[in-house]
Amino acid sequence: MKSDSRIYADLVDTRLSRRAALLGLTSVAALAGIGGLGRQATAAQVSSTLTFEELTKIYDENHHVPKGYTASPLVRWGDPIVAGAKPFDPKALSAETQAGQFGYNCDFIGYMPLPVGSKSSDHGLLCVNNEYTDPHIMFPGMTEDDAAKKVTKEQAEALRAAWGHSIVEIKKTDGKWAIVPESKYNRRITGMTAFAISGPAAGHKLLQTSADPTGKASIGTGYNCSGGMTPWGTILSCEEGLSDTFGGDASKAANAELLERYSYDGSDFYGFARFEDRLVLDKEPNEPNRFDWVWELDPYDPSAKPVKRTALGRFSHEAANSIVSKDGRVVVYLGDDDYFEYLYRFVTAGKFNPTDRAANMNLLDEGELSVAKIDADGTLTWIPLVHGQNGLTAENGFADQGEVLIKARLAGDKIGATKMDRPEDFEPDPVSGKVYAVMTKNKKRKPDQVDAANPRAENNWGHILELVPPDGDHAAASFKWDVFLMAGNPAKPEQGAKLNPGTSANGWFVCPDNIAFDPKGRIWIGSDGANDFDIADGLYAADVDGEGRALTRMFLACPTGAELTGPCFTPDGKTLFVSIQHPGENSETLDKLTSHWPDGGDSVPRPTVLAITKDDGGEIGA
Ligand code: FEO
Ligand code: CA
Ligand code: CA
Repeated sequence: MKSDSRIYADLVDTRLSRRAALLGLTSVAALAGIGGLGRQATAAQVSSTLTFEELTKIYDENHHVPKGYTASPLVRWGDPIVAGAKPFDPKALSAETQAGQFGYNCDFIGYMPLPVGSKSSDHGLLCVNNEYTDPHIMFPGMTEDDAAKKVTKEQAEALRAAWGHSIVEIKKTDGKWAIVPESKYNRRITGMTAFAISGPAAGHKLLQTSADPTGKASIGTGYNCSGGMTPWGTILSCEEGLSDTFGGDASKAANAELLERYSYDGSDFYGFARFEDRLVLDKEPNEPNRFDWVWELDPYDPSAKPVKRTALGRFSHEAANSIVSKDGRVVVYLGDDDYFEYLYRFVTAGKFNPTDRAANMNLLDEGELSVAKIDADGTLTWIPLVHGQNGLTAENGFADQGEVLIKARLAGDKIGATKMDRPEDFEPDPVSGKVYAVMTKNKKRKPDQVDAANPRAENNWGHILELVPPDGDHAAASFKWDVFLMAGNPAKPEQGAKLNPGTSANGWFVCPDNIAFDPKGRIWIGSDGANDFDIADGLYAADVDGEGRALTRMFLACPTGAELTGPCFTPDGKTLFVSIQHPGENSETLDKLTSHWPDGGDSVPRPTVLAITKDDGGEIGA
């Protein structure tokens, strides 16, 4: 029997040599640029188009960017943004004040130029997800473990008001970005905002509750992790599985099997269910079905209601990045961030209308959701999750298309989709048209569970796949695929990292999460989980083609306890916005803080969006 590392090496070598054959590449020099198999190449021989002076690995109280760049706090948790909002006072947090202030734990960032439809890179709307809260460093006298018992009703309401999404107008003047306080566009979406539910599952009996017998409305959102922007200028926000925010006894609920498949176990992490009966699983078993969707919002219309788009399926949504395919239909790439979950794709039925913005506003209500089956021969097949097809029938527990979408994970199980190592971001490179799918890690994968697309057992480091639509047709039934990189420390062969051999001792990373592409089509990779390896989370950049392919270079180091989320470029590539999420989260309590970032002194840590510019005014990365 082969050792795990042998099996792994075989799988990756098979993948990469097939890629070389596909591209007609035979020389060692050509292979040097492909996923890191050019073993003869050395750092001195391989160059990247990214010319910034790479950071030295550093992990301390501050954030760091390369010489010649400036990373300035643009908007922090608690900054007043809505007209009439109170100034930040960490000792007097309340739902009322928080609902007018920038939310907690910033994640996805969408930069929307002003005016709408322009490519303005010095004036726009910053649309930011606020994923979750850290009560143990927001309120005194509680740890992460006992917060659920200690949080009061008022504190619970303040936490819910810090979730969701923040929209804030921003302007660049004399090279420096600032928010426009009290702009008419500035608004907050919170854990208590009213939502509409649309698409094939709207009104479904599994979405009906005692408070809303129509099944077409929903109160609140949460765990808004990554997201996306549509070609018509709306934002998509992903609900990443609210399973631990409910209480009660899931086993006593009528739909116990469904709750279990979505990990609703009544753990009530924040203690909210003590104050809200709708969050008690055995009292309102359908309430969870109103979460774990992607919702859409028009940030240019301050009165627009956010809409949960059920056609995109229900799971632990991480990202929702879209592209207009060859025939004008819009394709959205979606990942389910949990162990052994799936990659999904949604293709609209209608076509994008570039000259009539309003005509696109309900495009995401009709179309086909499919799930990925990935084979070792380099083929990825998209299998439609359509009622009546592939065993998705009433006899198998799917009464109609609404039920297929509400139970998308069970539908993926039924058709035998490929179980991935926790899909995070999933995004097309707008320059090359290739698509990158990020697997953050999966410590639970056993040696007998490895496959070509998830080739490492106990994958503590994560990897990135590259998907190639045929002739740029993102709606095609099958793609080609390859390994782009395997994260980890190349100096430790037992980790099985596969990066370009020119990667420096500072350029390797672990646990890729969010990605972004600059206007030149180069990939920028945020990490989440590096602190377990005693290094900072940060941001790494690489070419996707040529000699510098997968040659990752370290661009940003996060401060203590923080992860890097939401990287987003302005259209001119001269500003890069990033979210620094949960600084100081590794503190035991509010009076034993590990971080006072970004304000310093004895201040509380504040999740913050940084605006990064090059001091000479040029493009980021050059
Ligand atoms: Fe919230 Fe999947 O990271
Ligand atoms: Ca994430
Ligand atoms: Ca993550």
